[in-house]
Amino acid sequence: MTGGPLVVLVGPMGSGKSTVGALLAGRLGAAYRDTDADIVAAEGREISDIFVEDGEERFRALEREAVRTAVAEHEGVLALGGGAVLDDGTRALLAGLPVAYLSMDVEEAVRRVGLGAARPLLAVNPRRQWRELMEARRHLYTEVARVVVATDDRTPEEVADAVLDAL
Ligand code: S3P
Repeated sequence: MTGGPLVVLVGPMGSGKSTVGALLAGRLGAAYRDTDADIVAAEGREISDIFVEDGEERFRALEREAVRTAVAEHEGVLALGGGAVLDDGTRALLAGLPVAYLSMDVEEAVRRVGLGAARPLLAVNPRRQWRELMEARRHLYTEVARVVVATDDRTPEEVADAVLDAL
């Protein structure tokens, strides 16, 4: 058993988890890890293909196991996929960990991720889907988070500073 992750980043697609995560890892002199990348490596296929071929439920189960492994093994900075918090089991794995929620409002999400063609959950009517997605998830991000950092008007460097200050 290890000491567990130094920081876990949650938040919607485009909130900057991977950019901020890499910056944080640099500042902490720690490694960066990302459960989306772990799943792609383990499955040998892209996440969009897992969604299409096996469905979201299967993806969430793979994600839960990826989070379980990463939380047990990784002592650095860990970023989760934007929908990881939807799963009860995944949320339970985050209890007591230093979780930072990178928040972002809907208009900023549309600006940053736009039509999100590469993101399977935003294929049709992205603005409405963003609004629904945020409404469904906001309370779940808040539930698991020790700190909430708004990213809308901040650069990734400023977000990283705010996470370090707050945790
Ligand atoms: C998802 C977010 C993605 C990825 C998958 C599903 C979501 O991760 O896990 O496409 O449900 O919001 P990022 O937040 O890293 O883009």
